Amino acid sequence: MEPIFITDVAPRDGLQNQPVHLSTADKLQLIGLLAGAGVASVEASSFVSPKAVPQMADAAELLQQLAAAQPSLRASVLVPNLKGLERAVAAGAREIAVVLSITDTMNLKNINMSLEQATAASADTLRQARSLGLATRAYLAVAFECPFEGVTPLPRLRELAAAMLAAGAQEIVVADTIGAAAPAAVRERIDALAEVVPLAQLAIHLHDTRGMALANAWAALEAGVRRFDASAGGIGGCPFAPGAAGNLATEDLVLMAEASGYSTGIDLDGLLAAVEFAETRLQRSLGGGASRWLRRQRERRQAAAHAKGG
Ligand code: COA
Ligand code: ZN
Repeated sequence: MEPIFITDVAPRDGLQNQPVHLSTADKLQLIGLLAGAGVASVEASSFVSPKAVPQMADAAELLQQLAAAQPSLRASVLVPNLKGLERAVAAGAREIAVVLSITDTMNLKNINMSLEQATAASADTLRQARSLGLATRAYLAVAFECPFEGVTPLPRLRELAAAMLAAGAQEIVVADTIGAAAPAAVRERIDALAEVVPLAQLAIHLHDTRGMALANAWAALEAGVRRFDASAGGIGGCPFAPGAAGNLATEDLVLMAEASGYSTGIDLDGLLAAVEFAETRLQRSLGGGASRWLRRQRERRQAAAHAKGG
């Protein structure tokens, strides 16, 4: 079976926008459950302004404790600028991600920089991170549609992808921040990006606002993408992008990929345990189709065991 590579972004993209703030210990337990399920890579936190995102204020503590608890787990952290990189490096980060939106307005709302400033800041951060030997990812946010400026221009997306690659991004993450993509647009944009970025270095980050995340993931797979962001239970959403709903659920992606002949290395029952832990802590129900199916399977197994036991 051909492998696909999944980064679970629940600890960052998932938790950054929740009304309930998880403690560092609970975040570590969630990441531990993900790692226990076979998740090899997570986005652990972000080194952003704690005023902008109070849920991520414990990034340094979390990263230090995570390195001790899960030394072989790949843990990326989002950094918006050189100050974020400096804080991440001091906390022992080995992998960072910058976030560049494709539009002026989204950059202003998210990181208080114009498109030009954000492009320069992201490139500087990537260059500095590579010179320190860190692994690097670059998010291209609102890669399909911007909540403020509408459909984003594909030539600009390509240009910025090429610029981030040249600045040292080892992975270009095409992000459908508000969940506005459809499979045909995914195909079109991935095909166009593949002309400037090697497919092996392209990843896709999807949100399920309109129920199309899984279909979009399939379109990306068919276009040759093998790297995916997803979030256990579908927890997610950007606080600065109105309308952004939850992420593509990791369990939905794993189930679809495994049922279609791709290997993920991730165990679905283990993933369900992580989703159910997040449910108890966030005090709301989570998960999509795959979670419902996994829970029904478990109930059937339990009923069968009960009947057998008399
Ligand atoms: N981490 C922590 N603090 C930071 C920081 C970082 N990466 N970058 C800047 N700061 C601090 C500055 O030191 C300064 O602190 P002070 O008021 O105590 O002097 C303060 O933030 C303002 O600095 P400035 O450079 O003017 O930043 P800003 O107010 O223009 O905000 C960001 C810019 C990028 C820091 C802020 O918009 C941000 O953190 N955005 C996060 C967005 C996000 O996480 N979005 C979701 C994920 S895509
Ligand atoms: Zn996202």
